[in-house]
Amino acid sequence: MKILVAGGAGYIGSHTIVELYKSGHTVVAVDNLYNAKLKSIKNVEKILKRPVPFYKIDCTDKKRLEKVFAKEKLDAVIMFQGYKAVGESVKKPIAYYRNNIDSALTIIELMDKYNVHNIMFSSSATVYGKNAKSPIKEDSDALKLNDITSPYGETKAMIEKILVDKANADKKFKVVLLRYFNPVGAHDSGLIGEDPNGTPNNLMPYIAKVATGKLPYLKVYGDDYKTKDGTGVRDYIHVVDLALGHVAALKCYKNKKKNTFIYNLGTGKGTSVLDLVKAYEKATGRKVKYKIVERRAGDVDRLYCDPKKAKTELGWDAKYDIVDMCRTSYNFEINNK
Ligand code: UFG
Repeated sequence: MKILVAGGAGYIGSHTIVELYKSGHTVVAVDNLYNAKLKSIKNVEKILKRPVPFYKIDCTDKKRLEKVFAKEKLDAVIMFQGYKAVGESVKKPIAYYRNNIDSALTIIELMDKYNVHNIMFSSSATVYGKNAKSPIKEDSDALKLNDITSPYGETKAMIEKILVDKANADKKFKVVLLRYFNPVGAHDSGLIGEDPNGTPNNLMPYIAKVATGKLPYLKVYGDDYKTKDGTGVRDYIHVVDLALGHVAALKCYKNKKKNTFIYNLGTGKGTSVLDLVKAYEKATGRKVKYKIVERRAGDVDRLYCDPKKAKTELGWDAKYDIVDMCRTSYNFEINNK
């Protein structure tokens, strides 16, 4: 298939482009480079030893994006574009609603106009809200409670709804919603990985900066959660496994019986903050200093998925373990400075 990858220069988009090409697909990447660098596309080209067509376009800019639809004969679109920082979304809700919803609507309207019917959306475990009981299944009752904790999360849930409404109204339109748990790690080459601007908010990139001496210590947000060691438990998934999940999900477009598909992409294994610290030290031989501090607002005890549906229906399963995730995160961190 020829696939438009919106947000292709970002962390998950860039890894997915690599796996799409390796599986025989071709790609057209677009990105406004707001939260990504052109260098990541150049490095994808190095990994693949081939050029990757790239347009610097903001997906809310319909005129410019339309030129891409008019020029390229696309079979599908994968939507990675969108702002993604939970805390920032609380401070700048309108920017999040405008950018995330507007870019999705723009893409869907252009797909309609140019007869492109296959879409995949980068959704998140955040749509289950704070009361979901782990292991979380795709049809969790928690979805009905609608207790999402940030404007970022609301945009994920809204775009899911927009896509499902569209699929109900137009049977040609095939929608795949992929709900990611906690993507971490980097490509084995060390050329692409997670490179957040400023001080990282998420655990793994923060640990990477502590392990390499760029930050003095990790603040562990609370050790009084109801978990085995009191620290928060999450379902970390290697970004290459996640990318392969997208490739596997392309087979949904061949299904003639239904046109909406929803999958959790996670390992199904819970890892605590202190487990991750230990695994990082083991994988890299570097010390990760930490201090226990107050809980962070909005965090929950544990969040991990039931990954069976993706395994049964897509034949996809996560292969990398926690030590691989730490090793590749560190490898990227030292390669890129
Ligand atoms: N944590 C720390 N110190 C830090 C950062 C995180 O102790 O400096 C802890 C958190 O309290 C939590 C765990 O590490 O227990 C994971 O935190 P992250 O910020 O890495 O990830 P979250 O689970 O909070 O959020 C992630 C994504 C969101 C997504 C959410 C969905 O970042 O985009 O999962 O579940 F919405």
